[in-house]
Amino acid sequence: MLTLDLKNSKGSPEKFLKDIEKRNQGFYKIIDDKKEFEKVETLAKKLKNNFNHFVVLGIGGSALGTICLKNALKPLAHEKLFVIDNVDPDFIKETKNKIDIKKTLFIVVSKSGDTLETLSQFFYFQKKVTDKKLDAKKHFIFITDSEKGYLKELAKKENYQTLDVPKNVGGRFSVLTAVSLFPAALIGIDIKKIITGAQKMRNRFLSKDTKKNLPFLLANTQHNFYRKGFKTNILFPYSNSLSSFSDWVRQLVCESTGKKLDNKRKKVFTGITIVPALGATDQHAQSQLFHEGPNDKLIIFFEIEKFKNTLKIPNKNLKNITFNELINIEKASTEKSLKDSHRPTITIKLDKISEETLGELFMLFEGATAFLGEFLNINAFNQPGVEHSKKLTKQAIIKL
Ligand code: PA5
Repeated sequence: MLTLDLKNSKGSPEKFLKDIEKRNQGFYKIIDDKKEFEKVETLAKKLKNNFNHFVVLGIGGSALGTICLKNALKPLAHEKLFVIDNVDPDFIKETKNKIDIKKTLFIVVSKSGDTLETLSQFFYFQKKVTDKKLDAKKHFIFITDSEKGYLKELAKKENYQTLDVPKNVGGRFSVLTAVSLFPAALIGIDIKKIITGAQKMRNRFLSKDTKKNLPFLLANTQHNFYRKGFKTNILFPYSNSLSSFSDWVRQLVCESTGKKLDNKRKKVFTGITIVPALGATDQHAQSQLFHEGPNDKLIIFFEIEKFKNTLKIPNKNLKNITFNELINIEKASTEKSLKDSHRPTITIKLDKISEETLGELFMLFEGATAFLGEFLNINAFNQPGVEHSKKLTKQAIIKL
């Protein structure tokens, strides 16, 4: 369960919900597709014991949700599930050295099926597989568009197994599809519970009652501060498990709100910058800037009520408190001292880190980002800047 320390705010989600509906996006609808989740679960069940290693090849929205789920829910699976989300040759080679190709399933994830970084990783590992005289069809599965793109064409031609990325779900909104749920299921994460959490929050997202609509309340707060010059949001979880969640939010919010043109094609150069921080670690790093630097940041704390473990600090001077108490005292003290310096803060409280709360969190931020798009009067679902740089990279290679 998740709560936000935001009171009722001015404005109502009703009109924006109509505007969002008109954008024909699937991120809040796909979670009702029971058949698709069963397909994902069944395939994961069938394959999970046939391999020792799973390697996701993908970038941006095709990788960040998976990294977040693994780090939050199965951190010990770091020797089982690898995510290669870059074209750094050292990173690729070092990951290759850690796996046994004969016992590895490669999951190639690309909504477009055309992303150069992902295809180049695929070509590299495909050669490694065929060099060992292995059947590539048994070692690769593609998660991509159901109709178009290089990967889909190749799958049709050479009979690779595929799972679909729904048509109306963009990369950064795809965590609740096969894109991240399939790799998650392979390492034993209960994807049904993620969906249950997401559905709960989706029902709030669709509520016309401002008090109930947490995504609206969050976006409204982010936008109110943005208008007053607080253009950066610091994501400050007091939990190592959530540190990759901040990276996922960073992509979601930056790519969705960073826009040159508004809905009327007027130049606005708008966007919220997300900066990840980690409590209590960053109290000894970035925190000084948050306290006394430019007052242009909204601090979003995440607090965990119940950690998986309870650890005592065996020292009388420290009143024999637990680390559990200490981390939350640290959070409360930082919050108080930031307030003393007139820095705006809000807190998202989680009863615990679980499949369900992760599902709620994903939908909270996806819904809030959709509302932010409407508050800012922009299209939150395109990414012309990213597309432009993808195009230039391809052109540069063609020219070689
Ligand atoms: O959110 C987005 O659309 C992007 O960040 C994509 O996820 C990223 O560019 C990867 O694209 P694709 O999944 O098509 O390979």
